[in-house]
Amino acid sequence: MRNRVSLSLSSFLIPLFTITIFFSFSQTLALNPECETQDHGSTLQVFHIFSPCSPFKPSKPLSWEQTVMQQQAEDQARVQYLSSLVARKSVVPIASGRQIIQSPTYILRAKIGSPPQTLLVAMDTSNDAAWIPCSGCVGCPSSTFFDPSKSSLFKSVTCADSQCKQVPNPTCDGSACGFNLTYGGSTIAANLVQDTVTLATDPIPGYSLGCIQKATGSSVPPQGLLGLGRGPLSLLSQTQNLYQSTFSYCLPSFKSLNFSGSLRLGPVAQPIRIKFTPLLKNPRRPSLYYVNLVGIRVGRKIVDIPPEALAFNPTTGAGTIFDSGTVFTRLVEPAYTAIRDEFRRRVGRNLTVTTLGGFDTCYTVPIVAPSITFLFSGMNVTLPQDNILIHSTAGSTTCLAMAAAPSNVNSVLNVIANMQQQNHRILYDVPNSRLGVARELCTS
Ligand SMILES: *[C@@H]1O[C@H](CO)[C@@H](O)[C@H](O)[C@H]1NC(C)=O
Ligand SMILES: *[C@@H]1O[C@H](CO)[C@@H](O)[C@H](O)[C@H]1NC(C)=O
Ligand SMILES: *[C@@H]1O[C@H](CO)[C@@H](O)[C@H](O)[C@H]1NC(C)=O
Ligand SMILES: *[C@@H]1O[C@H](CO)[C@@H](O)[C@H](O)[C@H]1NC(C)=O
Repeated sequence: MRNRVSLSLSSFLIPLFTITIFFSFSQTLALNPECETQDHGSTLQVFHIFSPCSPFKPSKPLSWEQTVMQQQAEDQARVQYLSSLVARKSVVPIASGRQIIQSPTYILRAKIGSPPQTLLVAMDTSNDAAWIPCSGCVGCPSSTFFDPSKSSLFKSVTCADSQCKQVPNPTCDGSACGFNLTYGGSTIAANLVQDTVTLATDPIPGYSLGCIQKATGSSVPPQGLLGLGRGPLSLLSQTQNLYQSTFSYCLPSFKSLNFSGSLRLGPVAQPIRIKFTPLLKNPRRPSLYYVNLVGIRVGRKIVDIPPEALAFNPTTGAGTIFDSGTVFTRLVEPAYTAIRDEFRRRVGRNLTVTTLGGFDTCYTVPIVAPSITFLFSGMNVTLPQDNILIHSTAGSTTCLAMAAAPSNVNSVLNVIANMQQQNHRILYDVPNSRLGVARELCTS
């Protein structure tokens, strides 16, 4: 694969043809049969969307540049979406006239109903609810649906039920408890329902989730979503006794797509040798996992970042979150510029810097890159090179795999994204208000 795409693109927006190619994916929407190993205990396998196991991988392989630019465009939409959550804006500011598609990065198997119907849902730490496309859904982007009529334990939630009161702005047409929400650039109309949800080998009876009736836009994950946030209807809230608001994951690298990672639910078998930083809670956005990023080191130098670029501020939503759904870490402008400039200085002033889509620090000759360390309260995380750099398949281009937060929204949020988390175990220990990070090769 040669550099077929111009390296001089200066915007994150990508031509529509890339999107078209991506969405001509195969319609056999179950895991590749070779990947049908069973989940065990309370641990689920996690697959990258481009994994050979994933039914959502592009049917025609994309060039490296196309893949990167597509992921950047989706990130742009996602970070704008997350920023809009923080700002409590109801309208997501997506560039007009562009159809930006947000696809999930990591998927896992959830079994819904009795007998179980398997869906490959997106894992999303920045959302609370779980929702799945139900039979008869208008506008859902998948041909795989959950069919309530085939489940003996399915139950509609009515407006009188207590669960309905946990839904923000429920709509009560007749007796069914309905709700509308926005996700990325999509709007979703769903009914709140209850059924058994089986995760790995754990059946969770009477689980409340959204049964999507209608969807518009193109951001809805094809087979639904499992929110790992902390809000009222989240997995954490509904499995308090079973999992005690504790989970961890290891996200496999997209460089070794044959590997799957894992999502381990509950306090059992979590790593003991792990570094922790406190989790912070923003009452305006309780589902986001904020941490206190206090500085960033490039090589041995702590770069000069204005403190307000990193400071946690519950009122404005400013601060730093860990997110499983964004691919490349985004830092607010002054923070990004500071690390980028130091990175370039270390790599060598004389080397020509090129761009690739939204990456502004790429090289077409081999480089020796400095390490990058995130300094969190009580925990320093030095990223291995694989978490900092992306290399083209042909090996000719290397980019610093981070970018500045979108500038067309008043973005105040730093997002530690999944590329920077890959091959680490990230432990969310909500009862003790802490987040742990440890190196781990995800090779389950
Ligand atoms: C929710 O969405 C449905 C279907 O698009 C629409 O008919 C209804 O008016 C919406 N309700 C609210 C409260 O926005
Ligand atoms: C990944 O798995 C596929 C099919 O099982 C196999 O053909 C391919 O060689 C594997 N790739 C690597 C890098 O191991
Ligand atoms: C950088 O370029 C200048 C002028 O071309 C040269 O004098 C200097 O030695 C170069 N530095 C390195 C580290 O290659
Ligand atoms: C993190 O690194 C900083 C700067 O290098 C150092 O001062 C601090 O003690 C380190 N913190 C931990 C918890 O290791």
